[in-house]
Amino acid sequence: DLKLNTDFIGRNFIYVEEIDSTNSFLLDRKNGVNESGTVVLAEKQTKGRGRKDRVWYSSKEQNLTFSILLYKEFKLFEHLNLINFSASLAVANSIENLYQLRTELKWPNDVLINKKKICGILLESSSQGNKIDRVVVGIGVNVNQSMFQGQFNYPPTSIRIEFGREVEREKLLAEILNNFEFYLNKISTESNYITREWKEKCRMIGEKIYVKEGDIIKNGIFDDIDNEGFLLLRTKDGIEKITIGDVSIV
Ligand code: BTN
Repeated sequence: DLKLNTDFIGRNFIYVEEIDSTNSFLLDRKNGVNESGTVVLAEKQTKGRGRKDRVWYSSKEQNLTFSILLYKEFKLFEHLNLINFSASLAVANSIENLYQLRTELKWPNDVLINKKKICGILLESSSQGNKIDRVVVGIGVNVNQSMFQGQFNYPPTSIRIEFGREVEREKLLAEILNNFEFYLNKISTESNYITREWKEKCRMIGEKIYVKEGDIIKNGIFDDIDNEGFLLLRTKDGIEKITIGDVSIV
C-alpha cells in the first residue's frame, strides 16, 4: 500500500522476510529479475553488507533495508556518482520533509543527523561484456531502532531517537522512492541541480580532510564537488580528483 507517484521506481516490488543481502539478490542474474526500478525489501538480512567490507545489521521490522535495481539505463550509468548522490539526497530530503529533522551529507553518501549516521548506501554494479548493464542501489535506514549492533564508521542513530517517537515505515519508503526517481530524472535534464543540492547539504566543504584510499591516506582541503560528482581535494601538489569507489573520509 505504497503511495508512489513514480513511473518505474518501486513499480515492481518484492517483499521478503529474510534474505542474505538485498544487494546480492539483485546483482545475481540467476534470480532473473530484470525490470528496471524493481525494489527488494527485506525485514532481515543474514549477510547485509556495508561499504569497505563492513557488516550491515538490520533489526527486524525496525528499519528500512532495501535495494533498487537499475537495469540497462545506459545513459545513467555514465554518471554513477550522481546516482549515488540521488540516493543520499532522496533519503535526506524525505527525512526533512516528513519529520522536520535537519540532515547532513557526508561524502560520498552517508546521511547524518546531529553528526550521527541515520542511513548508509551501497551502490554496486555488474557488467555484461565490458559494459555496465546493472546497477544496484542498496539503502539501509535506521528508522525505529533504539539499539544498534554492528560495525560503524560513525556513531549510529535512528529517526525514532531523533524525532522522539516511532514513525511509519511505509510512508518514509514511498517518499524515498518518489524522491529518488525525481533526482534520477535530473541527471539527464539538469545534472548540476544534483551537485548543487548535494553541496548545500554537505557541510564539509572548505574543511581539512583525510581521504583514505586502500592503505594510502591523503590530506588536503575539501575544495569542491565537480558537476560529475567527483570530490576535488586541494593538496600541496594541486587539485586532485577523488572518485567514490572505496574511498572514505577519515
Ligand atoms: C554503508 O554505510 O556502509 C552502506 C550500508 C548499506 C546497507 C544496505 S541495506 C540494503 C542493502 N543490502 C546490503 O547488503 N547492503 C545495503
